[in-house]
Amino acid sequence: MTVNFPPGFLWGAATAAYQIEGAAQEDGRTPSIWDTFSHTPGRVLGGDTGDTATGHYHRRAEDVGLMARLSLGAYRFSVSWPRVQPTGRGPVSPRGLDFYRALVDDLLGHGIRPVLTLYHWDLPQELESAGGWPARETAHRFADYAHLIGEALGDRVEMWSTLNEPWCSAFLGYASGVHAPGRTDPADALRAAHHLNLAHGLAAQALRAAASRPVGISVALNSAAVRARTPSAPDLDAQRRIDALSTRIFTGPMLHGAYPADLLADTAGITDWSFVRDGDVDAIKHPLDALGINYYAPTVVSAATDNGPRAASPWPGADGVAFHRPPGKRTAMDWSVDPTGLYDLLLRFTREAPGLPLLVTENGAAYDDKPDAEGAVHDPERIAYVHAHLEAVLRALGDGADVRGYFLWSLLDNFEWSYGYSKRFGTVHVDYATLARTPKSSYRWYAEVIRTGQLPP
Ligand code: NOJ
Repeated sequence: MTVNFPPGFLWGAATAAYQIEGAAQEDGRTPSIWDTFSHTPGRVLGGDTGDTATGHYHRRAEDVGLMARLSLGAYRFSVSWPRVQPTGRGPVSPRGLDFYRALVDDLLGHGIRPVLTLYHWDLPQELESAGGWPARETAHRFADYAHLIGEALGDRVEMWSTLNEPWCSAFLGYASGVHAPGRTDPADALRAAHHLNLAHGLAAQALRAAASRPVGISVALNSAAVRARTPSAPDLDAQRRIDALSTRIFTGPMLHGAYPADLLADTAGITDWSFVRDGDVDAIKHPLDALGINYYAPTVVSAATDNGPRAASPWPGADGVAFHRPPGKRTAMDWSVDPTGLYDLLLRFTREAPGLPLLVTENGAAYDDKPDAEGAVHDPERIAYVHAHLEAVLRALGDGADVRGYFLWSLLDNFEWSYGYSKRFGTVHVDYATLARTPKSSYRWYAEVIRTGQLPP
């Protein structure tokens, strides 16, 4: 197998605003649902919040320096909606915008392509108080926000992404409630999924209209690589159900112009989907320039034998499905290490959306990295994880997948949502007491991969 990546392959790293910025109350930023959620006792491990996070808002130049020394070709970050349009309505906040303008200019000055995500989960709290994603109005507010940011940054940012992992926003936010805003109503979660889809389509249109030059638009999906535990008909049906709820609920309207009939049937006891209005699906099917895939681990399912009461599930309409913990290596998130899931997804979308370029918009792993006596941080497990997943990307490329880039999650250790600061995904270690950054050994390893464009043996 070749070890060389194609010329022009985009080497990146990714972060998200709430996970790294801090400065939660500065320069006119209003609270997002994650401020409210993390400040609610019992929601986030250890009571951690994003108030300070990694302090990136005040360490922008240092962090771009870290990216430059890594020789990154691209940096995927998100804009904090309540920072640039406080309350989610009305005019843009010049002070909030200044930060992103300066960031983009720094990146371009170092030859690093900015990949701007409009929504990585930090909905302005005011919009949640007005109904949140289950309310159709939120999709229209998002389109207005996209227009404002397109006008402000569309002259210098070419690569845009609307939503990051809308599955998490809809189902962890409104069904299981383990993410902000912490609601647990399955019908609301399905409404949220539709309005996120609509928000994506409307925002894509708004961006193209607002930007002063052509822009490339993608969306990052955490399509579960779902496997049936056995090839029995009931287990395959469990796989079909979870695939519909995790992936086809988004790719159906985005790529194929319709919600899958089996999804509508599986969820008929929860909602009649009457919130989908004429014309919505056409708006959602706005042509994409690339599809972003966030991949960490596969999902293994079977038909459940015990249908007893369960805690709020993130899978509305899939009560008869059991989830399994496959044997083998695991990360600190207790997620299994299995790069074949990434290969399978890349090949699946190659078949399903011929001609649509693919980006691995996130991949990486958490491990319990600690500085040694000399202050160095060695993370051989992360190197092994990334190596194995890059091998899967190469294999997919060899088998015809049009993969244009790979973004390591994450540049820095950061706020891992309901796990707080307990899980470290960074290739750069952050000491949360001092906010000092220490590149880990994977940073040097990744820099070498980027420099040579090939995987070491
Ligand atoms: C996906 C999310 O986009 C990101 O915010 C999160 O930190 C990583 N997965 C790891 O869980």
